[in-house]
This record gives sequence, C-alpha cells and structure tokens, in this order.
Amino acid sequence: MPPVRKAIFPAAGLGTRFLPVTKAQPKEMLPLVDKPTIQYGVEEAIASGIEQVIMVTGGGKRAIVDHFDRSLELEHYLRQRGKSDLLHILSEVDALSNQVDITYLQQKEPLGLGHAVWTARRLVEGESCAVLLADDVILGASEPCLKQLIDAHHKTGATVLAVRRFPRDQIGRYGVVALEGSDGRLHDVTDMVEKPEPGTEPSDLAIIGRYVLTPAVFAELNRSEPGKGQEIQLTDAIKRTLGSHPVVALEFEGDYYDTGTVPGYLRANLMLAMKRDGLREELAPLLRELLDAD
Ligand code: UTP
Repeated sequence: MPPVRKAIFPAAGLGTRFLPVTKAQPKEMLPLVDKPTIQYGVEEAIASGIEQVIMVTGGGKRAIVDHFDRSLELEHYLRQRGKSDLLHILSEVDALSNQVDITYLQQKEPLGLGHAVWTARRLVEGESCAVLLADDVILGASEPCLKQLIDAHHKTGATVLAVRRFPRDQIGRYGVVALEGSDGRLHDVTDMVEKPEPGTEPSDLAIIGRYVLTPAVFAELNRSEPGKGQEIQLTDAIKRTLGSHPVVALEFEGDYYDTGTVPGYLRANLMLAMKRDGLREELAPLLRELLDAD
C-alpha cells in the first residue's frame, strides 16, 4: 500500500467560540503555554512521516503563514543581543518547514470542514491522505496519534477515524460511530452520527480530529451538498462511502486535549503548564491558594 505522504490542516474556520480574540487572529495560533496549537499538529505530522502539509486557510490567517516562515528581523534582533536560547526556539520552528513542504490554499467561504478538505482535492488526487484538526492536540503517546492511524490504514486499506470514549452526557457535541466487529482497539464502523441527540448515541466512541481518508471520500465530497448547520460535513461524505468502502475507528493512545472550547482550552493550558519544569513550581502554590480561598 502506498505511504500516506500528505496531511491537510483545515484552518479556515471562524473560531466564533473564542470571540473576540479570534476576530483578527486565527484560532489555530492560540497558544498552549507558549506554542500555537497548529505547531503541535505539524510536529505530529512530521513525526508520522508526512512529507507535505496542506494548510487550508481563510481570510485573516496571515499569522499562520508568518509563523512557519523565517523572521529575519527577529533573528537579527536576537543575534545582536546574544539571545542564543531564544534563537534556538526560532530555529526549531524554522526546522519544521525544512522537514516538510507547507502549501497554503484558500477556502474562499467557510462552508464547513468537508468543504475545507475538498478544497485540497487536486493536491491529493488518487492518494490516501491525512487530515488533522489543530484544535485537537494529542500528546504523550509512544507513537504519534497520526502514525497510529496511518499504521491502521496500511493494515486495513480503510478510511481511519481517531476515536475516544466519552461519558454519554458529554458525547453530544461530537460525531459518534456505530460499530460492528472489533480487533482490539480497531473497530469496523457501520454508521456515524454527527452531534447525536441525547439518548440516540450509537456508541460511546466520539470522533476526534485525526483522519486518514481514502480517495473514495473525496469522490463523495465532490458530490456533497450542505448538511447540518448548512455546512458541508466531512462526516456525511465518509458516511456515504460506508457499504462500498471500509471505514475503521481506532481508539488511539495518547493524552487528548480539546482546545476548541474556552473551558477545554484553559484546561489544556493548565495541564501542560503543570507538566513544564519551572512553571509547575510557580503555579502549584497559586492553584492551592485559589482552591483554599473557595
Ligand atoms: P470548528 O467546528 O471548530 O469550527 O471547525 P470553527 O469555525 O473553527 O470554530 P467555531 O465553531 O466557530 O468556534 C473544525 C475545524 O475545521 C476548520 C476549522 O478551522 C477547524 O480546524 N474549518 C471549519 C474550516 O477549515 N473551514 C470551515 O468552513 C469550517
């Protein structure tokens, strides 16, 4: 089976849940401690063997392009002042764009995740490709989450969805899979329901923002019409391949941080800051103090 070489990063959403900060700034550039969420995704893609990253951006996303570009002015400033530790941080970001080709595409209107992925169709024609949503940050696994999905794709030839178990009362804001057979952490998908109403969830496995899509999904995206919320849903296109093409769900290993909502974002920042030497020592007493004051 050919390797999965390309990864699409849909980053053209309006990020309305974070207004006003996302009015003039892409959600994907919001930091987890001191690194933008999209950089975690790009690092994961590179560690998973991806050779080309395709960023699908919209209006006002210039900051993403600038982030992965060199800043000669900033480098010059830091060099003049002998700030070698900070120069090292810049060189690490710079190294990312040397390890992978980054291509930018414009989604002219935010017509949904499915439409954003479809925007990249000509660059991935005939190949299986990965999709990563920068909001979903997955860390701490012995193998990067995307690599786990790519391995599952090579094993099965199927479209692969990353899934995680959630309590039923929290699962309603996700896409949820219905399953048939299972092989350990790999499940055969028979149906997918986007944001199910309480009591109608087909399982407790929610789809998280990592996919390996086969060309069959792109063929369906070509035929897509707006679904729930008048957007073109990726879930709908994948769903239409069921029956004719296999779709599997992988319960991935790793710590999952949902940074797409304000509470989830704050939680992720706190958790990652508490894992960071130098910050933990400062934050722990503060957190205790805040709890005691309750
Ligand atoms: P979300 O559902 O999180 O939407 O999109 P959003 O617009 O980013 O944020 P809210 O809901 O308004 O707060 C999931 C992913 O799909 C991308 C987003 O950038 C995000 O990475 N997306 C969404 C697009 O690229 N284009 C779209 O039209 C919609």
